[in-house]
Amino acid sequence: MLKTITKAFATVAIASTSLFAISIPAKAAGGGEHKIEKQNWGFNGPFGTYNRPAMQRGYQVYKEVCSSCHALEHLSFRHLGDKGGPFYDAEFPNPNDNPVVKAFAKDWTVERIDQDSGDPMDDTGIPADKFPDIFPNAIAAAASNGGAVPPDLSIIIPARTGGADYIFALLTGYDSDESHDGVYHNAAFPGGAIKMAPPLFDDLIEYADGTKATSEQMARDVTEFLAWSGDPKMEVRKTVGFATFLFLFIFALLLFMTYKEVWKDVEH
Ligand code: HEC
Repeated sequence: MLKTITKAFATVAIASTSLFAISIPAKAAGGGEHKIEKQNWGFNGPFGTYNRPAMQRGYQVYKEVCSSCHALEHLSFRHLGDKGGPFYDAEFPNPNDNPVVKAFAKDWTVERIDQDSGDPMDDTGIPADKFPDIFPNAIAAAASNGGAVPPDLSIIIPARTGGADYIFALLTGYDSDESHDGVYHNAAFPGGAIKMAPPLFDDLIEYADGTKATSEQMARDVTEFLAWSGDPKMEVRKTVGFATFLFLFIFALLLFMTYKEVWKDVEH
């Protein structure tokens, strides 16, 4: 009886090991030329934080380049000035009062309802407004982009396997800006063929802080900005996590010392 059970176990173990062995090459082959290199992001790891100047430049890249096609539907302008956000200023804990955020909001056109006629009208943004839609609907977005809909970017990093490394690899993964019928070759994109023209090239924008705008620099900065937009509470979460850990550690130490004290005269 015992022998049969052992035999059955062995068979299952061997079968699952060989299945695993088969599944690895199959997966690698399916990925095609999907090339994603690991980057050394400052926000990685249990104590990682966002790089503020990089996020600020990344916002500029989004505004001046990506926003002609991609929306940030989960963000309002005021989020830029939240604690942990790219333009947080301790002097203005309420981002609605932050002059930098106000100025950025004003740069955008948003749609409002005219309070007298009820008609939609264009207006300049205020911090409380959401980032505007770029296209009225998905059909219009596809029609303007060769049949592909530019996805919303606000939570693209948590939404994609490889996260920030993937987005950076995608933005730097074009080997040519020539297309075949509107399709571009990109080594990072699954399948290698994408309907987004290379959006970045050297000196495309002029950075407000004077940093040289190489295409790689812009790719890195906009990825930093999108990492924040996809997980704006990361820094708070890590701080709270560490404080909790420290508390539990000290608490455990005190408990142990109490235990020693209470039982010190008892034979055990
Ligand atoms: C001219 C329009 C246009 C611009 C500008 C543009 N994109 Fe795109 N983007 C697209 C389209 C269209 C797609 C969908 C491509 C597809 O599915 O083949 C796309 C797809 C993407 C994807 C998703 C890839 C995936 O895994 O599905 C990311 C990420 C992205 N773009 C980031 C950016 C960033 C960052 C910028 C600014 C630096 C930018 N894009 C600028 C049109 C644009």
